[in-house]
Amino acid sequence: MTKIIAFESSADETSVAVVEDGHIVLSNAVATQINSHQRFGGIVPEVASRHHIEWITRVLDEALLTANVSPDDLDAVAVTYGPGLVGSLLVGLMGAKSFALAHDLPIIPVNHLAGHIAAANFNAPIIYPALALMVSGGHTELVLMTSENDFAVLGETRDDAAGESFDKVGRLLKLPYPAGKTIDEMAHRGQATVKFPTAMAHEDNYDFSFSGLKSAVINYVHHAEQKGESINQNNLATSFQNAVVDALIGRTKRALEDFPVKSFVLAGGVAANKQLRDTLEILLKQFNDTQFIPVPLEYTGDNAAMIGAAGYWNFKQRIFADLDLNTNPGLDFDLIKQ
Ligand code: KG4
Ligand code: ZN
Repeated sequence: MTKIIAFESSADETSVAVVEDGHIVLSNAVATQINSHQRFGGIVPEVASRHHIEWITRVLDEALLTANVSPDDLDAVAVTYGPGLVGSLLVGLMGAKSFALAHDLPIIPVNHLAGHIAAANFNAPIIYPALALMVSGGHTELVLMTSENDFAVLGETRDDAAGESFDKVGRLLKLPYPAGKTIDEMAHRGQATVKFPTAMAHEDNYDFSFSGLKSAVINYVHHAEQKGESINQNNLATSFQNAVVDALIGRTKRALEDFPVKSFVLAGGVAANKQLRDTLEILLKQFNDTQFIPVPLEYTGDNAAMIGAAGYWNFKQRIFADLDLNTNPGLDFDLIKQ
């Protein structure tokens, strides 16, 4: 059995976890800073770094305590080195390196996006070839995995990420940041009264675009304000969310038709969206040979357990880093040429 301790600090969650064999979570300690960033309507990088420094040792202690392991029981230290905010990433990286040095453990460099996808293994083992829809605050990608730890991007967003569009519409509606969960809940109380455009639906690729939708929502709200009309926010949330889900489903369907896969993974913070999960489950009924493996709800947002899951892939392939490992804030998967 392989026990990996994992560090994640790419954005506004400080997290340390202990994961066994890439799929058994022994602990997953997460300290969130959302309250500190809410009044600014987004993450303030400098504030985020300071919080990570304050919390990292406490979160580390909690992860070890909950997992009931001592450093001697561990086989390796996995750490997110990108993508993310450089100051935030550095804190987790320093924590991981210090721990590895002190306890003579190898360091595993982990791509945060691979972590989101690997978290599907907490639900059921991913079977290959697999397709993953990775939807978060910073990324919207359709990723083809022909085998474990092998990622090729079929399509990605040309502008805003899906989660970002939820957060921007949330800001317009004066909802607290991040707004995805709130809009999700509002949408279930409302009705679709406006038909917003689903961008690029007819284009012959797997890319996404959400900035046009965002502008359409902004225009709609401004027009109503100018006319002195009040807006039913729940109905607006439903109409907006329908357009986002339509766009995600349309691209996913096309990719599933073109690339027959054994499993389909839904990952990233937006994977918590109920309508998206439900609609994909229905879509997957059309693809008998493909198993739907959404990341369990509690692991959709940023957390270190997912880094432990992806770290195990690297561990098996002996992908380790030296103590001079640096952050890579713009780290990405490779895009397949279209
Ligand atoms: O993966 P994540 O925790 O952080 C990044 O790596 O970006 O994703 C955060 C994003 C935010 O934009 C948030 O609004 C969105 O995920 N989100 C949701 C829901 N829960 C979180 N979006 C739609 N519906 C949700 N239920
Ligand atoms: Zn993330």
